[in-house]
Amino acid sequence: MPISGLSDPSLFREQALIGGSWTDSTSGKTLSVDNPATGEIIGTIPACTAAETEKAIAAADSAQKRWKTRTPDERAAILMKWYDLILASLDDLATIMTVEQGKVLAEAKGEVKYAASFLRWFAEEARRMDGTIITPPQRDRRVLVLKQPVGTTAAITPWNFPLAMITRKCAPAFAAGCSMVIKPSELTPYSALALAVLAERAGLPSGLLSIVTGEAKEIGPVLTASPTVRKLSFTGSTHVGALLMEQSASTIKRLSLELGGNAPLLVFDDADLETAVAGAMGSKFRNSGQTCVCSNRILVQSGIHDRFVARITEEVAKLKVGNGLDPKNTMGPLINDAAVAKIRAHVEDALSHGARYASAPLSTDGRFVTPVVLEGVTSAMRVSCEETFGPVLPVFKFETEEEAVTLANSTPFGLASYFFTTDVSRAWRVGEALDFGMVGLNTGSVSMESAPFGGIKQSGLGREGGHPGIDEFLELKSFHMAGLKF
Ligand code: SIN
Repeated sequence: MPISGLSDPSLFREQALIGGSWTDSTSGKTLSVDNPATGEIIGTIPACTAAETEKAIAAADSAQKRWKTRTPDERAAILMKWYDLILASLDDLATIMTVEQGKVLAEAKGEVKYAASFLRWFAEEARRMDGTIITPPQRDRRVLVLKQPVGTTAAITPWNFPLAMITRKCAPAFAAGCSMVIKPSELTPYSALALAVLAERAGLPSGLLSIVTGEAKEIGPVLTASPTVRKLSFTGSTHVGALLMEQSASTIKRLSLELGGNAPLLVFDDADLETAVAGAMGSKFRNSGQTCVCSNRILVQSGIHDRFVARITEEVAKLKVGNGLDPKNTMGPLINDAAVAKIRAHVEDALSHGARYASAPLSTDGRFVTPVVLEGVTSAMRVSCEETFGPVLPVFKFETEEEAVTLANSTPFGLASYFFTTDVSRAWRVGEALDFGMVGLNTGSVSMESAPFGGIKQSGLGREGGHPGIDEFLELKSFHMAGLKF
């Protein structure tokens, strides 16, 4: 059943955008997309082929050659127009997102704004891609460092943030003078297609952006093998990131990889209890626990442990699970049945190794999962070493700062981390000691357009957003001018 209630129904597209044309696949094959809250089929999308992916790459290549000659101001003006159009369509975009992804409408609206913020930020950055002048090494020589667009780029984007993970990649690409072929998640393609409708209306040149819908196994290898695609940006699991890295090796492609996490959230005895509870709730239950930066392990010092568990359990009991279109609900469904099965497996494993429910026990209904708090959690349990990606809040107890930092860092992942303390010396000590790309002090949120987002260790390569975000789409060229007469 198509999405009802849109004030602009033309935002809902069931075709791919390839080289400037809205198209079905020549294969005639389609994939169905369902609503995780109801299981109903929303519509279909073309299962694009390798040949169609090649066509999108060729169009992106030729569009990029013209786009890079436009002035930064001209590029910025189109990005700002796109920004305005996205905000003008906020309600429709949020509805599409909630229906295909499941997150509650208030969060979907937040994501639309978050997505738009990258367009504004990088429109502004387009005007500041300054190079440098090197101190002259020889009397007759001057050396400049120019920043130039990488060229044709590609992105593979996830289902958990169907809009923001696209604009966080394509806004810097377009600002820098690159083109981009995007393969959105086949679970949430309609947000991406709506975004592309608005891009066309904003005046983004034909072919500069393609949205190639379909299966990763068909489209991904074409993107990675193509010598024309000079850079690939991916958000998703570490397993797939490693695969893409391998596949990209033969063309020595630049990569930005935003991969899995296992975020610790530390609550010290001297923390403000209410700040810690609010931070943990925000960080754990955003998008029903389905973000790479969701806190996965809650480490609580013994002196505040019981009070923290009691208070957070009260807050968890207030969460209302249900269809995200209903404004009284505060937590939507999980994305698919596999996600529900993983939650069940993690909770059962923890209970079988000695954890206890502090909240009401887990119950599931279709893809709806009640949020749970577990206490008595230890490193022997799966929740300590695997990303749960769902509404399970596992509490570990610790005694000393050193023990907590060691535990927090004992993971091959290094994306986000959070800690709560009112001691300024501890704030510095722990902030510097946590081996993560992002650290939040007295907050459960580290996501914004103006700060670099990304991880270390097996959580990825490169940074998105902030000032470094545009550098990921720029090459440095040393320009040596010799034989100058003085
Ligand atoms: C993610 O989960 O991959 C991104 C979350 C964010 O940008 O906050």
